[in-house]
Amino acid sequence: MTVKNLSCDQLYQIWVSDPDWITVVDLRSLIEYESGHIPGAIHSNPESLEEFILKSSKQKPLVCISTDKQLEDKVLEIQKKYEQVLMLKNCMDWPQKGFALTGQKPNQWMSSKEIHMNSSNIFVYQLFESQSSTYTYIIGDKVTQEMAIIDPVLETVDRDLKFIQDLDGNLLYVLDTHVHADHITGAGEIKKRVHAKTAVSKAAHVDCVDIPLEDGQELLLGDKKIKVISTPGHTSGCMSFYFEGKLFSGDALLIRSCGRTDFQQGSSETLYLSVTEKLFTLPDETEVYPGHDYRGFTRSTIGLEKALNSRLGRGIKKEEFVRIMSELKLAHPKKIQEALPANMACGAPKDMRVLHPQISDGIPEVSVFQVNEAKQNVLLLDVRRPDEFNAEYGHIEGAKLVTLGAELTEYLARGDKSNEIVFVCRSGGRSGQATSQALQLGYSKVANMVGGMITWNLQKLPIVRDGAN
Ligand SMILES: [Fe+2]
Repeated sequence: MTVKNLSCDQLYQIWVSDPDWITVVDLRSLIEYESGHIPGAIHSNPESLEEFILKSSKQKPLVCISTDKQLEDKVLEIQKKYEQVLMLKNCMDWPQKGFALTGQKPNQWMSSKEIHMNSSNIFVYQLFESQSSTYTYIIGDKVTQEMAIIDPVLETVDRDLKFIQDLDGNLLYVLDTHVHADHITGAGEIKKRVHAKTAVSKAAHVDCVDIPLEDGQELLLGDKKIKVISTPGHTSGCMSFYFEGKLFSGDALLIRSCGRTDFQQGSSETLYLSVTEKLFTLPDETEVYPGHDYRGFTRSTIGLEKALNSRLGRGIKKEEFVRIMSELKLAHPKKIQEALPANMACGAPKDMRVLHPQISDGIPEVSVFQVNEAKQNVLLLDVRRPDEFNAEYGHIEGAKLVTLGAELTEYLARGDKSNEIVFVCRSGGRSGQATSQALQLGYSKVANMVGGMITWNLQKLPIVRDGAN
């Protein structure tokens, strides 16, 4: 028998049409509940669930929310007795779908979540970025208000800096656990706005970083230390950070899992040693805060991971771990093409190309479809004659007419060589020449649109002619 589940979409449909038709019981921790919950959901401790059910109407479906796999068994037992009980699994889907949350913006499900702010005069905040399921942490010393941010994401820099500002924080460090492949780091953007030092592993060879980190290095926050632990394997330059009994493990150790090892000089053998010989030697009660989670988990402990981690726990042998990892066959992250070069440049997206041309006979080429998608973000130079620009094939919206010959030569001579330019003509011949000319003049981000406006029109992509679409 399996637990009767409800999907996020199903729950949402019920919730928007008639929220009173169901009772939603949130079994997560009170901190998680308070950080953001489905409007109308009632918090209950798992231990009190049965009592709660007895007090509720038998006619009303009762939907239990949990992020804890072990609770599923408990709910399964309860479902045998009470037919009206349903389970919503993986409730992280709720904010990812942009559904409403009480008191929170949808992509801030975990934002403002204070995990620890008591005995040892430190704080740790866990924030979530839903596109890449990345956790960003803001940690600090309560006495001096000195802070560090770990694994910021470019898209949520505004949120994070506002958060630090609201706390009256003095941000000293922007730490990346590694060069990420699935998102662009917010490090460069943060550094532009506040006086903080960026840091990533020396082994990652990121030249623009302020502090190239080495194993055993210590960074001070007030009188407390962030200890840097080299944990390669997911990438060759992975670092974990240990701060006052808490481990920020990046993608080396995830909750019940670990990061992949199939690119960025990853190595399963190395990761095995990093986790079993370094991280698993920390005290069992060490709290583990991962770089990602895709199932709604937020933290763990070293003891729990040693016992329960499906890839690295239970005393697994290295050979077995290597075999498991070799059989994963994961697709590459969607953003890898964009994220890796940006992160090697400290997350500076302005230095990046929007388009990634194929090289043919020494000329970078892009398709009409690539151009159509990127046309707002690159400079389109149409090198045809003026009489062609508004004739049969029209031109691409936003394209600038600079005819091949003297006009283009003069334009390129005084142009900004850092511009990303796509050259366009009727069939791709003249624009190929223009691309070659620009390359010779020192332009590095240029490409020829293959097939020109003939192919553009054949593919029925939108054109502009005499100012009309
Ligand atoms: Fe990663």
